[in-house]
Amino acid sequence: MKKIVIEGGNSLRGTVRVSGAKNAALPAIAACILTGGWHKIHQIPALRDIITIKNIMSSMGAAFHDNDDRSLSVNTENIFEYEASYDLVKTMRASILLLGPLLARLGKARISLPGGCAIGARPVNLHLKALSAMGVDMRLEHGYISAEVKRLKGANIFFDTPTVTGTENIMMAAVTADGRSVLNNAAKEPEIIDLADMLRKMGAEIKGDGTDTIIIEGVKELKPAVHTIIPDRIEAGTFMIASAMTHGDITIQNCRPDHLYAVIEKLRAVGAEIESGEDIFYIKGPETINSVDITTMPFPGFPTDLQAQFMTLMCVANGASMIEETIFENRFIHVSELERMGADITINGNQALVRGRANLLAAPVMATDLRASASLILAGLVAIDGKTEVNRIYHLDRGYEALEEKFRALGANIRREEA
Ligand code: EPZ
Repeated sequence: MKKIVIEGGNSLRGTVRVSGAKNAALPAIAACILTGGWHKIHQIPALRDIITIKNIMSSMGAAFHDNDDRSLSVNTENIFEYEASYDLVKTMRASILLLGPLLARLGKARISLPGGCAIGARPVNLHLKALSAMGVDMRLEHGYISAEVKRLKGANIFFDTPTVTGTENIMMAAVTADGRSVLNNAAKEPEIIDLADMLRKMGAEIKGDGTDTIIIEGVKELKPAVHTIIPDRIEAGTFMIASAMTHGDITIQNCRPDHLYAVIEKLRAVGAEIESGEDIFYIKGPETINSVDITTMPFPGFPTDLQAQFMTLMCVANGASMIEETIFENRFIHVSELERMGADITINGNQALVRGRANLLAAPVMATDLRASASLILAGLVAIDGKTEVNRIYHLDRGYEALEEKFRALGANIRREEA
């Protein structure tokens, strides 16, 4: 077991480069199941979740090659197995992304039901309902989804609520289905557009991605693709918040300002100075951090995956702010850890009232999920009176590539130690 140890107080300075997006890389790798031949995906981040999806797909017969230029070659020519076991799925819910492509390629899939997780119940009912509409015979038995279909048929699908991986799953199922599929109330996240771009390179006919209606005409055949994953907007946002918190002055390379408009607007209201180019941010933290309210929303709203980090910023703001979480019902688990560092937060349902204070105090804390881990590291960067120790950092390694090394290069006093 490792932990991250931070001595707070340093202002961040310098340049950091953002890695490829975990939540775009996972569906892109899953999409390779749709057809054999060597696909090549650039800008794959070095993360635990990527290793997990490679392990699951390897057990199904897929071949992988990590190239020197940090791209990943994937060949699913010999895919023969269609089961993702509980042992693997319980470590990564995104394994559900294999369901759509396996049904499209093999007409069969057996995937463990992901179950709840630390941030909420996280059902997959909308994935299953849409696949049923496409003709899939679905059974839930012994904790597994057993799905079978002779040929997927295009369908008119309405998602009760926009679901990111649900939209991705159905896009992958629809690209080679018979006829047209219309996905209504689809998710609009940049990761959806990135997947559509990759699928189009494979020969798919997709229109409307990035809007709430995606139209897909099934094609007979696909071919392998070469694709570059978009930069991770959540990692970029985490660095922006870190700069705002530490009176920093940093340059963030390899980011997409158009993926972060809601975050830029909120950080400007906080008092940060932000300049951006096509794929670069310059962000200078304010002397005094203004308190600002946020409500998490599907894209283009403020992302739930940056809520915990923004809350940490508000813990040291001048005044009180209201943080409202509308996507996941239990995404305030970081609050009790922040309180151990002296934060003043009152939770009422899905709202958290944060009363900013001059300082947070260093303390040993425990990471409870991926984004909560990042929020505790941010807290450690500004905490006074000793060392903050963030334990259970395996959550962090699922989704942030070398975060502590990147913070160290920006001047933070942070290191990884044996727990
Ligand atoms: C994706 O999860 C991301 N994961 C999450 O990233 C992110 O927090 C989330 O989207 C929201 O942006 C990946 O892309 C791999 P949803 P996903 O389905 O697809 C409800 C991170 O830290 N819902 O868009 O699982 C659901 O309960 C994470 O990287 C249903 O009711 O989220 C939630 O309230 C964690 N039924 C809402 O929809 C369903 O069948 C949105 O969830 C599906 C979802």
